[in-house]
Amino acid sequence: MNVVRQANDEQAMLWNGVAGLAWVETQALLDRVLEPFEKLLSEAVAAKAPTRLLDVGCGTGATTLAAARRIGPHGRCVGIDISQPMIETARTRARSENASAEFVCADAQTNPFDRASVDMIISRFGVMFFDDPVAAFANLRHAATDDAELRFFVYRSPAENPFMLTAERAAAPLLPAMPPRDPDAPGQFAFADPRRVERILADAGWTEVDVRPVDVACSFPLGELVRWFTQLGPLGRILHEADERTRTRVVETVRAAFDPYVHGDEVRFDAACWQVVARPARGIETNGA
Ligand SMILES: C[S@@+](CC[C@H](N)C(=O)[O-])C[C@H]1O[C@@H](n2cnc3c(N)ncnc32)[C@H](O)[C@@H]1O
Repeated sequence: MNVVRQANDEQAMLWNGVAGLAWVETQALLDRVLEPFEKLLSEAVAAKAPTRLLDVGCGTGATTLAAARRIGPHGRCVGIDISQPMIETARTRARSENASAEFVCADAQTNPFDRASVDMIISRFGVMFFDDPVAAFANLRHAATDDAELRFFVYRSPAENPFMLTAERAAAPLLPAMPPRDPDAPGQFAFADPRRVERILADAGWTEVDVRPVDVACSFPLGELVRWFTQLGPLGRILHEADERTRTRVVETVRAAFDPYVHGDEVRFDAACWQVVARPARGIETNGA
């Protein structure tokens, strides 16, 4: 039997399955933790004052909705995401706050965007999952006007983000079936190497690429810590497969491993990220053109 593989198959399965559902269930918690990035993007949106904005890998919509509030009813804000459950949540949120933002469930790498249809493209951790990043960013270049701005946040290396690995490191001896992370595969740390990010963007028809480190203080209530590590990340994806005794031991062990991040009734950590800004290169035929 022939198996026809489409772009981003594995990520589509993940984000329409266990990872997407976990993000929907923990939406308020994640939006609180990632709020500093929403604020940074919102300020940039206010400064650029685009009329047509695209939010890539918009998830449950927080940054698209924030941009729509900044731009107002005369602009157009569209969030695109490969995850149906996350897009449905985003649409529900838009309806409940009577926002003008629109949400499209599609793969940003292959979606047939209208040429030169957006003047700002933003993303909060939504661009590290493409199996062909050059094709994806070329497709975004095709969607951008010549004076557009591309602006996104991605994570720096795992070594600089020890908080993000705390759960899986502590749980690994108890859950030998947990797959190790592949640093070269699409995923949370796929854009950790700034030279790679510059190469991808240059090859995809972007120029004036500015990749700068930002360290952002994040926090959430201690009462949410167990939910954080039992639902999210690689541990959250497989913990439900373990028997109850193992689960109890994992929760105890992992909870203790987070002690260095507990300050009173809060969990605090620094997210080590790259803020990437780029402009469309002119006169270049890209893959997406
Ligand atoms: C880490 S989450 C970030 C979600 C959102 N930007 C936020 O900050 O709340 C990554 C998002 O990228 C989406 N994604 C992954 N691959 C994608 C693709 N090829 N096209 C569109 N969205 C994609 C996922 O479904 C997920 O919602």
